[in-house]
Amino acid sequence: MKKIMIFGAASAIARETAIKFAADGAQLFLVDMNIGRLEAVKKDIFARTKAEVKIYEFDALDFGRHNELFDTAIEALDGLDAVLIAHGTLPDQGEMQINNRNAIHEFEINCTSIISLAGVAANYFEPLSQGTIAVISSVAGDRGRKSNYLYGAAKGGVSIFLQGLRNRLASSGVNVLTIKPGMVDTPMTAHMPKGPLFAKASDVGIGIYKAMKNGKDIVYLPGYWRLIMFIIKHIPEVIFKKLNL
Ligand SMILES: NC(=O)c1ccc[n+]([C@@H]2O[C@H](COP(=O)([O-])OP(=O)(O)OC[C@H]3O[C@@H](n4cnc5c(N)ncnc54)[C@H](OP(=O)(O)O)[C@@H]3O)[C@@H](O)[C@H]2O)c1
Repeated sequence: MKKIMIFGAASAIARETAIKFAADGAQLFLVDMNIGRLEAVKKDIFARTKAEVKIYEFDALDFGRHNELFDTAIEALDGLDAVLIAHGTLPDQGEMQINNRNAIHEFEINCTSIISLAGVAANYFEPLSQGTIAVISSVAGDRGRKSNYLYGAAKGGVSIFLQGLRNRLASSGVNVLTIKPGMVDTPMTAHMPKGPLFAKASDVGIGIYKAMKNGKDIVYLPGYWRLIMFIIKHIPEVIFKKLNL
């Protein structure tokens, strides 16, 4: 896995994964919507690893240019072995309930833009019979809760899409990895009070690096979220609907 595009590379989690791959000698094409933040990531990676990475400013909602983005990355790296899709936003559920237009906008960032990018990646890797498509979903996509069901629906849509994509690509040797972090201390969750279940972005970033290298299908990060979500998913709906979650 030597040529990697990371979409949403300025995110606190993805930049940690980028650092690990850069230290491995991988060539990186880093994409995010703010060139200033990408410049900072590039400098940080160089300071830590001496690796030169390529950066590219792109808005995930620019659907008409998703194919062109891949062409640009493939040309810049002279090929592509893996894609990590990591961008996202955490919308305020209360606001989503009263502002339908914003709710659709947030859904497009967190679901449809990801489906589109992963679809382009699949159509590139499938004829080559190789490649890795890794996407950050969330434990929030495992069960809808009143506190964040717009975000949860978007992540749940991504997880189901990836499940089907994995099924489609299994015989071609393309690996599809669904990454399900629990709560992580990043700018996205800066407004939340921190409890013992919050993980460090560095630990989750390294977990993603390992899961990609090991060809995993689905990974919960940290791993204890697999058990937590197993329990949450199995609470009968008649009880679940009364819980204050
Ligand atoms: N933090 C958590 O607790 C947690 C838990 C589960 C899953 N996740 C998922 O992990 C991933 C990384 O999140 P994080 O916590 O590391 O958050 P973060 O540091 O806030 O990073 C999110 C990144 O996505 C970028 N982005 C937002 N909208 C975009 C768009 N339209 N086009 C391109 N880039 C866009 C942001 O750019 P700007 O900053 O310039 O807007 C930012 O660099 C996300 O998919 C998130 O849903 C996070």
